[in-house]
Amino acid sequence: MSGAAAFRFDPSTTPVDANDRAARLVDPGFGRVFTDHMAVIRYSEDKGWHDAAITARAPITVDPSIAVLHYAQEIFEGLKAYRLDDGGTALFRPDANARRFNNSARRLAMPELPEELFLESCRQLVTTERDWFPQVDGGALYLRPFMFASEAFLGVKPSSEYLYMVIASSVGSYWKGEARAVSIWVSQDYTRAAPGGTGEAKCGGNYAASLAAQQEAIRQGCDQVVFLDAVERRWVEELGGMNVFFVFDDGSMVTPPLTGTILPGITRDSILRIARDQGIEVREELYGIDQWRADAGSGRLTEAFACGTAAVVTPIGEVVGPDGRFTIGGGGTGQLTQRMLDALSAIQRGRAPDPHGWLQRL
Ligand code: PLP
Ligand code: COI
Repeated sequence: MSGAAAFRFDPSTTPVDANDRAARLVDPGFGRVFTDHMAVIRYSEDKGWHDAAITARAPITVDPSIAVLHYAQEIFEGLKAYRLDDGGTALFRPDANARRFNNSARRLAMPELPEELFLESCRQLVTTERDWFPQVDGGALYLRPFMFASEAFLGVKPSSEYLYMVIASSVGSYWKGEARAVSIWVSQDYTRAAPGGTGEAKCGGNYAASLAAQQEAIRQGCDQVVFLDAVERRWVEELGGMNVFFVFDDGSMVTPPLTGTILPGITRDSILRIARDQGIEVREELYGIDQWRADAGSGRLTEAFACGTAAVVTPIGEVVGPDGRFTIGGGGTGQLTQRMLDALSAIQRGRAPDPHGWLQRL
C-alpha cells in the first residue's frame, strides 16, 4: 500500500465551529488544543499496512491486554507545519522524521512504515486541518505521529498488530508566560539512557523514565532536567525533550556527539548546518559538567541553549549542578542563541532562502 490514493476520507460530522475554534486559537499553549481529524493506518502480519484513513478525531477502544499497555512497545515523532509569510503552508523536514521513525521502529522490533505513507499521512492531515493554524507568535500545527503494539496477548514478544496514527495540535510557545531563559537541574540520581539501550529511539518508555527526574527538577525550582551519561556520570547528554548547545567566547559552539544514547534531533542537525553555513565553528564533542561550571565561571562559556521541535531554540540562563548553582553569561538570551533562533525561524516561515530544501510546501 502506498501513496495518496490509499487514504480514505471520513470527514468529521461534528467539527468544532468557527467561533469556538477561533477562541481556542487565541492562546493555545502547547499540546492542549487538538484539531478535528486524525490519520490512522493499521498493520497486521498477514495484511501488512492497510486501511489508511483520515477520520474524525475520536477516542479509541482497545482491549486491556494489548501489548503497549504492558510492555510499552510504542514510538512517536514530533514535527511542525508552518504558515508561511506568503500565506502558504509547509512541513519542516518531514522526511527526516520519517527516517527517524523507522530507526525507532527497528529498535523497538516494530514494522517499518514506508516513508511515503508517513509523509502522505502528515500532508493529508495538515491539508484537512488548514483552518487550525494559530495566528500567534511562533504558532504552528504540531503533528504527533505515533505507533503502538495493538495485539491482545500477554506473552513478551513483538506484537503481530500495530496501529499508526497522527494527531495534530495547534500550538504556540512550549513555555508558559513570557519568553525567557530557562533554568536546568543536573540529574544526579537518574540517568536517561545507557549504551545499548533505547536512548536514540523516540519511544514513550524513554519519556516515562525521565519523569521522576523532571519532577525533581521542578522541586528544585528549575524548569527542566539535563541528563549526564550513564557510565561516567560526567558528560552532558541532553534535556528530557531537547538537545543542548554550548557557545564559547571565541564564537565557536559545541554540542554532544550522537553516541547512541541521545536523540538525534532534527533541530540539532538544522542548527549544525545553519551555523556551518554561516562560517561558525561547531564541534560535536563530549563536554563535562565540571567543564561547564568552570567555563561559565571563567567567562570562556558565554551562552548555552536547548533546542527541539517543541522548544525551538531556548536559552539556558542558569544551571543547578552537583556543586551548586551557576549562571551562564548574563543569565538571559545570548547573541548567538538569538542568531540561531532567528535564522532557523526565517527558514521555517519562508522568509529566508532554503538552501537545503527543508520546507515541503503543501
Ligand atoms: N531530545 C529529546 C529527548 C527529544 O524528545 C527531542 C524532541 O523531539 C529532541 C531531543 C529534539 O529533537 P527534534 O529537534 O527532532 O525535535
Ligand atoms: C518535540 O519537540 O517534538 C518533542 O517530542 C519533545 C517533547 C518535549 C514535546
